[in-house]
Amino acid sequence: MTARDGVTSSTDVQVRPLSSALGAEVIGIDANTASDAEVDRVRDIWHEYQVVLLRNQQLGEDEQASFGRRFGRGSLSGGHNKVFEGDNEGVVYVTNVVDKSAPVGILPDGEMQFHSDQCHQEMPSKGTMLYAIEVPTMGGDTRFANAYRAYETLSDEMKARIADLKAVNIYDYAANPTQRGQPREGVPSHTHPVVRTHPVTGRKALFVNRLMTARIEGMGPDESEALLTTLFDHQEQPQFIYDHKWQPGDMLIWDNRCVLHARTDFDPGQRRRLRRVTLPGEAVI
Ligand code: SIN
Repeated sequence: MTARDGVTSSTDVQVRPLSSALGAEVIGIDANTASDAEVDRVRDIWHEYQVVLLRNQQLGEDEQASFGRRFGRGSLSGGHNKVFEGDNEGVVYVTNVVDKSAPVGILPDGEMQFHSDQCHQEMPSKGTMLYAIEVPTMGGDTRFANAYRAYETLSDEMKARIADLKAVNIYDYAANPTQRGQPREGVPSHTHPVVRTHPVTGRKALFVNRLMTARIEGMGPDESEALLTTLFDHQEQPQFIYDHKWQPGDMLIWDNRCVLHARTDFDPGQRRRLRRVTLPGEAVI
């Protein structure tokens, strides 16, 4: 192992941290031809850095789905709405491109608040892989917030206060799925611990988010909203955040168990087309 300008290398793979908050670019991996040992190595780096970037990838739908199954050691999560899926089960598009010959996007345009994929489900996704096909010249950055750091930097009093709390997480596809709204009855939801323990690293992470965490279980609305707002404001501080400026061919893999993500606004007149697969996760403890 050698270290130079923050870059460490082991055999043919180099690791370049993306920010002081989280994330690493892994240099020397081609997702189409990676050996099992290389996939294992990328997974280990992912557990350490929480977000991994592979640049200059050439991935069709089949190749991305295949790499997702290898990386996640299993099948992919089904899309939440089959209408939007591409040809492969579990592959969806995040895009504003409207073209009758291409799958349409699963999300509206514009800014999207911080969230963790599928936290409204019993077993939320452990990881998401997003691959850039076309990107706008400005904006449309994907933002990542370190949920370990958010937890670790809470005061001891706050850690004690939230230690045994659970929160209801919702996702409302019919309302605006990019901005917090008034929770409605009957939308998909699940209750999870406010503090979760990562099953691989054993580290604790703050598992609430502005977009999808509707309320603290067993608390009155005012107290719940005040506590959640304090936690959201804490976890979205700049020192915990890395903003990714996309280039075509970038593939980002993030760990939903210890990372929140969001998106900055962009010009809806510019094409933005990314392809996503999600990796099934486990019960939240
Ligand atoms: C998402 O939340 O999956 C979308 C992120 C993005 O469009 O950058």
